Amino acid sequence: MIQQVLGGMDAAEFLECYWQKQPCVIRQAIPDFQSFMSRQDLFDLAGREQVESRLVLETAGEYPWQVTHGPFDESDFAELPKTHWSLLVQHTDLHSPAAAAFLNQFRFIPRWRIDDLMISYAPEHGSVGPHLDSYDVFLFQATGRRHWSINRHDYKESDFIDGLDLQIINHFQARQQWWLEPGDMLYLPPGVAHHGVALEAGMGFSVGCRAPSSHELLSHYVDDTLEQENDRRYSDPDLSPQEHSGEITRKDLREIITLFHSALPDETCLVNWFGRYVTRPAENEEPAAAPGPLDPTAFLAYCQNQSVFSKHHATRTAFIRKDQHFILFVNGEACTLSTALAPFIYAFTENDEFDNPLPLQNPPGPELIDLLYRLYNDGIIA
Ligand code: SIN
Ligand code: CO
Repeated sequence: MIQQVLGGMDAAEFLECYWQKQPCVIRQAIPDFQSFMSRQDLFDLAGREQVESRLVLETAGEYPWQVTHGPFDESDFAELPKTHWSLLVQHTDLHSPAAAAFLNQFRFIPRWRIDDLMISYAPEHGSVGPHLDSYDVFLFQATGRRHWSINRHDYKESDFIDGLDLQIINHFQARQQWWLEPGDMLYLPPGVAHHGVALEAGMGFSVGCRAPSSHELLSHYVDDTLEQENDRRYSDPDLSPQEHSGEITRKDLREIITLFHSALPDETCLVNWFGRYVTRPAENEEPAAAPGPLDPTAFLAYCQNQSVFSKHHATRTAFIRKDQHFILFVNGEACTLSTALAPFIYAFTENDEFDNPLPLQNPPGPELIDLLYRLYNDGIIA
């Protein structure tokens, strides 16, 4: 499958040769790219309370590489020096439909593996310093030119400058370097040290991947389990007298192990939990319920005039095939559906807009109508 965003490279070739293996520069990954986000749009986003934004001041702060957190207003930007700073806005896809649509071009990677689209603006010499990220990243040059250098050395904790708000590598030495023009993209596997410096004012789009760690998974799974009611307590109806009351016996420990195992997930629990976990909405970013919820009859009438549905851009979706069913996950909620809904599930989880599926299913089953009805009233489709 040829990918436009890979400059016409075949997805299979990219995954086999580069993905999680080695860096790669894709010249004109998107030829003639026109940015959907202006510098002012980004500054406006960084002024909003619910948007995560940071300013990195290489030289103009109270100390080198000072980081300040948004929201920022015009006076914050007015005080900035001419050079050597960067504004970073995380999760722009949750706030801008165009940013969410940009991520759709990365369909050659499972959607759940993509975390966000971070957009940065930097004037000349702007940078966030040499550092490494623990996940794969696609660094797309949207406007302006930037010099990137990398080093694949295995850096240790002692290689980072102490006491900063950012992790910055001390004495970074470039091993490979590229000058990126608008439309070019650098892909980096996890852990490759990189340093990008703006040659002139411009914007970079970073598609950051999601790679949950075992501790993160465990901690979320435990939190989720603790919310449920099936708690089992230690019991020992066959207790017999023991010689030393201070001893914890092998038999006691075996019961503790059994108790632990009873709290661990079987496959069904895990499937259900993982889908809910990876699609859970970001804080404050759940779509608001439909302004005027419709009753089932009014909804069917509404559907008659709807050739296309659009999905709220901050919706997180995924599905898992399980036995003869699909489990659809939408913003952290699970719903078991029959395989008859497969064409709808594929379209809904892959697109921002999809054809109204009701005329396509003849006669439309109550399962599909009911699902669309709930998605509509929850503000997820319109
Ligand atoms: C940037 O856009 O300035 C930084 C992106 C990165 O290094 O991950
Ligand atoms: Co980085």
